[in-house]
Amino acid sequence: MREVRHQASLKDQRVGFVPTMGALHEGHLSLVRQARKENDLVYVSIFVNPTQFGEGEDFDRYPKPLERDLELLRKEKVDVVFTPSTLYGPGHGTYVTVEGSPSVEGSSRPDHFKGVATVVSKLFNIIQPTNAYFGQKDGIQCITIKRMVREMDFPLTVRIVPTLRESDGLAMSSRNTFLGPQGSPEREAAVILNEALLAGRWAFKDAEEQGKTITAGGMKKIVELVVAMEPLAELLYVSAACMDTGAELPEDGVCRKETTMISIAARVGQTRLIDNFIVGDEGW
Ligand code: PAF
Repeated sequence: MREVRHQASLKDQRVGFVPTMGALHEGHLSLVRQARKENDLVYVSIFVNPTQFGEGEDFDRYPKPLERDLELLRKEKVDVVFTPSTLYGPGHGTYVTVEGSPSVEGSSRPDHFKGVATVVSKLFNIIQPTNAYFGQKDGIQCITIKRMVREMDFPLTVRIVPTLRESDGLAMSSRNTFLGPQGSPEREAAVILNEALLAGRWAFKDAEEQGKTITAGGMKKIVELVVAMEPLAELLYVSAACMDTGAELPEDGVCRKETTMISIAARVGQTRLIDNFIVGDEGW
């Protein structure tokens, strides 16, 4: 890998990097296409990272359709696909922790972001990208990685690409396959996440038009009420967080345009789903 990357450096080529855990869908491909527009070469990694899965999470059943993934990447003319069998040697004991962002998502999955930050920094060190691409759907992950890059002086730019959605609004995710086909009860129920966030968006727009503000507590209540209408969905949390640090706003904190991210996690059957929107929505 180092030799391949060295050759690109010799030619002064910009490398756009898309880290993935495979089971690719259109959302991943939109990252690849964005990387293609902004770089000379596109590198993709496929590695289901064990350190970011907590106990009882779906590491063992995480889909691994490698041949299909490689075919999709071939069609996108990706230059390099990095598929390590492991990135952790025996006795591995070095981890990266991004501290000081007590987000709800972070507290609900204590070791998840440590695993993400660790594997992403290893991948950055191996690939040495010019630009790295992440999907907005994993909102707190985006905030965590941006902070890590900023605070650890990684010499690269993090690019966040808007979430791609199915026609009914469900955010694209590799985990959606667990919900069953379109029309099945869990697949239908999953749409409630987007509907709840839409209610939050409208509430903010309405308040703004009337020259009013909306608090984190008020916003969460609206989102919670919508999710409660779907019996197959169990709400895990709603969060209103600062986009810069990931820190949770106090209940009476004001949701601010382009600096507050509202995110949601819910379980539909056995499947844990997440989604988010940026208040006022101009993106990162
Ligand atoms: O978003 C993902 O697929 C993963 O968290 C990532 C960034 C590839 C790290 O394993």
